[in-house]
Amino acid sequence: MSMPALPLVIDTDTGSDDAVALLLAAASGMGDIRAVTTVAGNVPVETGTRNALISLQTAGRSDIPVYVGCQRPMTRALSSAQHVHGQDGMGDIGLPDPLATPQEVHAVEVLLSLPRRHPGELTLVTLAPLTNIAAALLRDPLLLSRFRHVYCMAGAADLAGNVSPTAEFNVWADPEAARVVTQAATPDKVTWIGWDVSRRDAVMTPADQRRLKQIGTPMATFAHRINRTVADWARDVTGLAGYDLPDPVAMAVALMPGLVIEREQAYVDIATDGLTRGQMVIDRRVTAPPPNLTLVRRVDEAGFKELLFDTVAASG
Ligand code: BDR
Ligand code: CA
Repeated sequence: MSMPALPLVIDTDTGSDDAVALLLAAASGMGDIRAVTTVAGNVPVETGTRNALISLQTAGRSDIPVYVGCQRPMTRALSSAQHVHGQDGMGDIGLPDPLATPQEVHAVEVLLSLPRRHPGELTLVTLAPLTNIAAALLRDPLLLSRFRHVYCMAGAADLAGNVSPTAEFNVWADPEAARVVTQAATPDKVTWIGWDVSRRDAVMTPADQRRLKQIGTPMATFAHRINRTVADWARDVTGLAGYDLPDPVAMAVALMPGLVIEREQAYVDIATDGLTRGQMVIDRRVTAPPPNLTLVRRVDEAGFKELLFDTVAASG
């Protein structure tokens, strides 16, 4: 018997890996996306919004509403990741404009109103700097408790960073926002899937990349082509045996929590400045304050890739 689709709200700075996460949520049959909210991060928010609309259209779901959110981090200028995902965030392959347009309502309004209307029903998945969530939390301190669960692609629990020696991009880009979230979080409600999981359990090896290309459906071809820039960057910078898929593996955990092999609960704070900007400060001492986050540490790689390949193989 198949499970009912999971009602989702997705917050994204849509670049090439967010796009694949949106395909998983929209086309696997496991997600029921009620809203997509966008925020500045990988690319400026207007570009990320365009990319979200294109991704949903590729999944055959142009009907899903997309809401534009914050234009920049809480206290700083935006430092985008266009050197990673391409100027357009989607590998600069000349994707045509989407058919749909975003909604008029601001993303933060939607993040506040939807979980109030459907208490305990919605799962929030964040794939971006946490600016929209922090902005909503400043207005509603109980916000996180109104969701069924909150999954965030955020941080690097082993302190091996992708944007600095010890920090992961989403937390580094808006560390003040990440701190607002960690200070409001409880481990029964908030789970972080960090870059440590991505670089160990979600790397698209050359064989995986060939498989994606060979599948040849519109979704598989899209997922392959938009990730060419990130593949070059991963080869040159991260030293991985391929490119990693941080947002898709976080989405996979939300859709299929059984994929998690290892997790821990810990008290986490965030460094905001200097050399350690965006670094997770994890207190594992016996005397630590009570845990505020659940940290996923390992995921079933084969199970994740099966979900990915099966989803994009559908003709869409
Ligand atoms: C995160 O930063 C972005 O580059 C990706 O989309 C992902 O959300 C990984 O650090
Ligand atoms: Ca992202």
